[in-house]
Amino acid sequence: MQVRVGIVGVGNCASALVQGIEMYKRNPELDPIVAFKDIGGYTPRDIVFTSAFEIDARKVGLDLAEAIFQPPNNATVVFKPPKLGVTVRPGPALDGVPPAGLMPKVVEGSVEDVVKELNSTNTEVLVNYLPTGAKKAAEAYAEAALRAGVAFVNAMPAPIATSEYWQRRFQERGVPLLGDDTQNQIGATVLHKTLIRLLALRGVKIRHTYQINVGGTPDFVNLMYRRGDKEKTKTAAVKMMAMGQEFDAYISPVAYIQFLGDRKIAHTLIEAEIFGGLSIRIEATLDVHDAWNSAAVVTDSVRLAKLALDRGIGGPLISASAWGFKNPPVHMSPDEAYRAVVEFIEGRRDK
Ligand SMILES: NC(=O)c1ccc[n+]([C@@H]2O[C@H](COP(=O)([O-])OP(=O)(O)OC[C@H]3O[C@@H](n4cnc5c(N)ncnc54)[C@H](O)[C@@H]3O)[C@@H](O)[C@H]2O)c1
Repeated sequence: MQVRVGIVGVGNCASALVQGIEMYKRNPELDPIVAFKDIGGYTPRDIVFTSAFEIDARKVGLDLAEAIFQPPNNATVVFKPPKLGVTVRPGPALDGVPPAGLMPKVVEGSVEDVVKELNSTNTEVLVNYLPTGAKKAAEAYAEAALRAGVAFVNAMPAPIATSEYWQRRFQERGVPLLGDDTQNQIGATVLHKTLIRLLALRGVKIRHTYQINVGGTPDFVNLMYRRGDKEKTKTAAVKMMAMGQEFDAYISPVAYIQFLGDRKIAHTLIEAEIFGGLSIRIEATLDVHDAWNSAAVVTDSVRLAKLALDRGIGGPLISASAWGFKNPPVHMSPDEAYRAVVEFIEGRRDK
């Protein structure tokens, strides 16, 4: 049994995913730390990387196992896989190109090149790890996935799984669609959502909240000049947990701090009122290896996409998206989403 996975954007998240999967494959004594060890018979060790797409000349043309360690990637190195026999190919550049000076040389391919590569490698699921803000490029790869009949997992914030247009086209083509914007295994968003949900369920009046994030990855370099989409998906995710309460929320990636490297530090503050109008204050600090924190959920997501392919289910996967993404077509609390995914795996719900 295999889940044949292609990757768009060989950056830090791709690095953590490839390192992690290859490490677990080669070390049978290690138990993969994921929420769902078995999804319809597929384990993390069944994931096989079959294609990869980039525009940075430092990565294009290399084997995927080498490309993941090229600059500016700085994800923590835990495992160095041997060559995987997957050559990183050029894809459409569009708005993925950063401002001058950040990418020394751009190499381009077409949507048609991507479709051909997906077909010739029998890729089944394509994971989109493009930089936040690269909406046109995200749409170009979604188009390629559709034409090739490949499931699409949108790990970044461009509205694909939440767009009626893409929902309809994936539905008509009978191809699964998951997204938008991965919700980390234990990230700032899921922690913040859980705290807000708890307060709302206990009848506490939320006055206001903020979440500010700092990190030292290329993702943070990008977010310094293109953070709008990320702010939208993170804010929507948190506010949807408040059971209709209205309050001010400031949620933002705020600074690139080079010496933090792959670490991201998220500071969350919630101020609220309990019975009698008395104040309470909650502060939480989360310090994580950012790219690694996204890999477990993508490991689950690609297997959920494959299960949907096996069952002939197309269009947006409601439960898998609510579980794994910050801005899904239907928002659920973490425990509701967990239950929905279990029902989907067990065949008790369609999507
Ligand atoms: N924990 C996390 O790090 C996390 C969580 C949720 C979502 N995300 C999102 O996932 C995405 C990827 O994050 P990352 O840390 O790997 O970013 P990254 O900047 O390290 O990687 C992005 C890669 O995409 C490449 N690229 C740019 N335009 C391209 C194009 N047109 N075609 C192919 N490749 C192109 C870049 O060269 C780079 O290698 C971001 O949008 C990020 O916001 C990350």
